[in-house]
Amino acid sequence: MLLQLVSFLALGYLVLGYEQALTFYTEPGCVGTSLRFQNKESDLTAYSPLLGEMKSWLLQGYWVAFSETNYTGLRNLHVVSYEDMVRCYNDTLFPTLSLRYMGPLETTTPSASIYSGSGEYFMGGVERTFTGLAANNFGFLPKFLVLTGRSSWTGFPNEDFSGNATCFSVMDIIGYINISSYGIKSLVQGCNAE
Ligand SMILES: *[C@@H]1O[C@H](CO)[C@@H](O)[C@H](O)[C@H]1NC(C)=O
Ligand SMILES: *[C@@H]1O[C@H](CO)[C@@H](O)[C@H](O)[C@H]1NC(C)=O
Ligand SMILES: *[C@@H]1O[C@H](CO)[C@@H](O)[C@H](O)[C@H]1NC(C)=O
Ligand SMILES: *[C@@H]1O[C@H](CO)[C@@H](O)[C@H](O)[C@H]1NC(C)=O
Repeated sequence: MLLQLVSFLALGYLVLGYEQALTFYTEPGCVGTSLRFQNKESDLTAYSPLLGEMKSWLLQGYWVAFSETNYTGLRNLHVVSYEDMVRCYNDTLFPTLSLRYMGPLETTTPSASIYSGSGEYFMGGVERTFTGLAANNFGFLPKFLVLTGRSSWTGFPNEDFSGNATCFSVMDIIGYINISSYGIKSLVQGCNAE
């Protein structure tokens, strides 16, 4: 009985959530010397030559890479690996000076992350992640929203959680929404408000 329960939980973990990770390899097919990332890296200047040597990468979660520091410049990588699908990409990366997973490390965490955007890339720039029941005082008008943990959030056009409410949710354990046209200034977790 105990064994059955444990195996069920182990299986459930694989399917329901995971920690985000991105590993680069010196050889195609994800073999050779590896370089693993599990942090938000705003300045990869020191790693840039090494990254240029990498010929494949394995990704879990939602990762974005940029040609300049602080998640600006050109977008070199923008990949979401849903659920427990881990894929090896035989690819090299254009010169990259910043790299981050989107939202929290653990995708089961119910959260909303907002982005200021950088140029035409709405997922760039400043990121703020919220895990509480409500959030406001963003400091910028968010262009992009990333949700994790199968949470849904109600967005409002006013700072005080008032006005025309919009419910945001995504299909998977992690996903994104372009919210540039909504003018969202406050968020409440869940979509049962009113
Ligand atoms: C990646 O390269 C390896 C080694 O050359 C090869 O075995 C594998 O099939 C390639 N994978 C893809 C997805 O092309
Ligand atoms: C990144 O942004 C932070 C905060 O805005 C700033 O202090 C820092 O100097 C920037 N770093 C680089 C390398 O652009
Ligand atoms: C409320 O928002 C919805 C969708 O964002 C929009 O279609 C509708 O026109 C808005 N209504 C008002 C009164 O602003
Ligand atoms: C985001 O939505 C706006 C308004 O609907 C649209 O003009 C813009 O092209 C979209 N941007 C991206 C990056 O999808």
